[in-house]
Amino acid sequence: MQTYSSSIRVLNGVVFEGKSLDSCFSNSDSALAKQVCYGVLRDYYRLRSIVAQLLKKPLPAKHNDIFLLLISGIYSVDALRRPAYTSVNAAVQCAATLNKSWAKGLVNGVLRNYIRKTEKFNAPVGATPEVETNLPNWLSDRISIAWPTQALEIFAAYNSEPPMTLRINDDISREDFSKKLSENQIEGHWGALYEQAFYLSKPMPVEEIPDFETGQASVQDESSQMAALLLDLAPGQNVLDACAAPGGKTCHMLQACPEIKLTAIDKDAARLHRIDSNLQRIGATATVVASDLEDYRAPDLFDRILLDAPCSATGIIRRHPDIKLLRRDTDIVKLAQTQSKLLATAWDLLKVGGKLLYSTCSILPEENENIVSDFCMNHPNAAVLDLASEHDVNWGLRTPTGRQLLPTTDAYDGFFYALLTKKAQ
Ligand SMILES: C[S@@+](CC[C@H](N)C(=O)[O-])C[C@H]1O[C@@H](n2cnc3c(N)ncnc32)[C@H](O)[C@@H]1O
Repeated sequence: MQTYSSSIRVLNGVVFEGKSLDSCFSNSDSALAKQVCYGVLRDYYRLRSIVAQLLKKPLPAKHNDIFLLLISGIYSVDALRRPAYTSVNAAVQCAATLNKSWAKGLVNGVLRNYIRKTEKFNAPVGATPEVETNLPNWLSDRISIAWPTQALEIFAAYNSEPPMTLRINDDISREDFSKKLSENQIEGHWGALYEQAFYLSKPMPVEEIPDFETGQASVQDESSQMAALLLDLAPGQNVLDACAAPGGKTCHMLQACPEIKLTAIDKDAARLHRIDSNLQRIGATATVVASDLEDYRAPDLFDRILLDAPCSATGIIRRHPDIKLLRRDTDIVKLAQTQSKLLATAWDLLKVGGKLLYSTCSILPEENENIVSDFCMNHPNAAVLDLASEHDVNWGLRTPTGRQLLPTTDAYDGFFYALLTKKAQ
């Protein structure tokens, strides 16, 4: 019952108040309540349509809480490992705690009706594209246009539960870490893309991960682990992490090559604190600057720049399913303008002969390929480096300027990389 009251509060924040999922959780929300919220948002368009079919007429806005209780109830009946009627009874009791005893019969009737006709609702005839893809139409349309042959796999990946992925320090061999894991009865497998990525079979609290406290193991998706590798870091280089918070890639760069001189910038001071605590955990130091990149005055130019730009996050929707509801089509044009501006600003901070890695966790060409190819057209001193031949890796889909990783159901997230070098004018 407590699970439902938490999920109604959190989902109300996301669905009806447009707040981010993370900002709606409180410390008292249980793991089960969080599971219900993530699950409902991943499956939102389908669940909403089932509720609409089960209700004789739509509920008025003043009863949004009952609507959210019903979609949470249907999710729980389908997905939680407990008898379906346990979920129904808890939902009925929750209606009473919302001071809506009148809704007890409605909740009971709708959920029992769903249980009786589950098959009908899970094989709907003539489902709308929103229901089929579990996405708003503007987003499924953009994805279908960009990735016509991969679109169905992308939609399936969005609806899957993401794995918990670790990055193990380069100085620890796979064998040694595997031994530690088996001593702790932890199961999983190594990644196919990045040598030191390890997929846990089951998510676990970070404190229980061997070597997490010492910084030898970190939580980081495998596709984002490619950044430090692609930058081709070497001792003594002056390196800029231009959009750094919360610092996942900052830490990786410093652990991959501790002898670099690293400056980490972010305009979001609150998120910047997380870089400090991440650096503390791994025992590394960097110059951390709270600034808009546009306002930053660098004392020296940089040998390497990572521009991990703000984006639509369409590569990581399974981790942040609230994006489905919060992002708008018009955001994409605005994001593209920001990305182009940031790329031009970062470029001015790069030495001749230096390398700049542009990355996003988006899968939309408007934020990736188009940004980099337009930039190269307007900057004759920019040359594209071939990520495959330079690094002897065969990964992602080749685009004219970079590599696109599309989100998977059981492995890495969606990510884009393009590596540029600055030629003398
Ligand atoms: C994709 S996140 C970076 C993730 C980070 N690189 C990591 O691996 O942990 C993008 C970051 O860009 C920052 N940002 C957005 N616009 C910026 C700007 N104009 N100047 C500096 N930072 C900016 C955001 O605050 C956000 O933290």
